[in-house]
Amino acid sequence: MGSDLELVECMHREEGLRELNCSNCKYCLSFPIKAFSEIDTLVSKIKDLIYNQINLAWDASKVSFFLKVVLNEAIPNAVEHGILGIDSAQKKALHQELSADYPAHIQKRWSEKNKPVVVSLCLSPKRILLGCHDSGEGFDPELYTMSSVNKNSLLKLSGRGLMLLDSLGVNLQWNAKGNSVLCSISDKTLRERKLQLHFDKIFHVGVEEFDAQHQKLFGFFNLLLNNLQESSDDDTLLATIVELTNYVHLHLSAEEKKMREYNYPGYDKHKNEHEYFSLQVLSLHDKVQKKGEALDIEVLGFLVGWLKNHIAKTDRGYTAFFRERGVS
Ligand SMILES: [Fe+2]
Ligand SMILES: [Fe+2]
Repeated sequence: MGSDLELVECMHREEGLRELNCSNCKYCLSFPIKAFSEIDTLVSKIKDLIYNQINLAWDASKVSFFLKVVLNEAIPNAVEHGILGIDSAQKKALHQELSADYPAHIQKRWSEKNKPVVVSLCLSPKRILLGCHDSGEGFDPELYTMSSVNKNSLLKLSGRGLMLLDSLGVNLQWNAKGNSVLCSISDKTLRERKLQLHFDKIFHVGVEEFDAQHQKLFGFFNLLLNNLQESSDDDTLLATIVELTNYVHLHLSAEEKKMREYNYPGYDKHKNEHEYFSLQVLSLHDKVQKKGEALDIEVLGFLVGWLKNHIAKTDRGYTAFFRERGVS
C-alpha cells in the first residue's frame, strides 16, 4: 500500500451504522479532501488499492463509474450545504450570478473555512463502502431525508448523481444528523450486471402505447449508462443521444396528440413539462455535438430523475382519465 494510505479505525463502525456490516472490512481508510481538484487523484488511489494491492476481480468500468459519481456528487454537496451552509435557493441564485465562476467561488470559500471533507473507504471482498463526512449541520433537508433515503423524496429530486446511483441499485444511507452519507455497492453487482435502470410498476400508466414508449425511453438511458460505463467514444455517445432526442420528440408528441384528442383538462400544464424536458435533452445533444464534451453524470442524473418523476406523477395523472374513456 502507498505510504499516504493510512489504515484507520472503521469510521462507519464508530458511527453505529452497523447495518452495513463493517465488521468484515479488509481495509478501512480515510482521506481528508480540501479541494475539488483532489477528487480525480482519490479515484485513482482507490482503484490502485482495489486492483494492484488487494486484487479484487471487479469490473473496472463499473468501479470507476461508482467512485466518480459518488465523489463528484457527495463532496460538492458536503461543501456547499454542510460546510458553507448554502441552501437550495442560495445555490440557485449564486449559479445565476456567477455561472462558470461558481466552482471557483465555492472552492475559495471552502479554502477559507479550512475544513476538509473526510472520505472514508471500507473495502472488503464483499463490497465497496464509500462514505463522505463533513463537519457541518447536515445535508440540505430539502434534498434528502435525514435518517434514510426516502424513495418518494428522492423522486422529487433533480440534478443529483446520487439519485442516479439509487436508481441503479446502489445502497445509500445517511446518518441521523445528515452530515455523513454512505454508499455501498456489492460484489454481486460489480461482478454480475451492468448498472441499469429498471422499469418497475410505479411507471405503468395503463395506456399500452405509452407504456411501451416509456420502456423504450428507459432503454435509451440504459444505453447512455452503458456508454458511460464502457467509456465509449464520442461518436457512439452522440449516436445514442441523437436517437434519444428523436424518440423523446416522438413520445411527447404522441402523448400531447392523445390528450388534445380527448380534451384532457391537464393538457397545458403537462405540455409545459414536456417543453422543459425537450429543451434539456436538446441542450445535452448540442453540448455533446458541438463541444465534444464528455457526458456529464449530473446532467444524466437530472434527466433520469426528471423522466422518472414525470412518468410516475404527471403521466400517471392521465391514467384514470383515459381508462374512463376506454383508452388502454
Ligand atoms: Fe410520458
Ligand atoms: Fe408526459
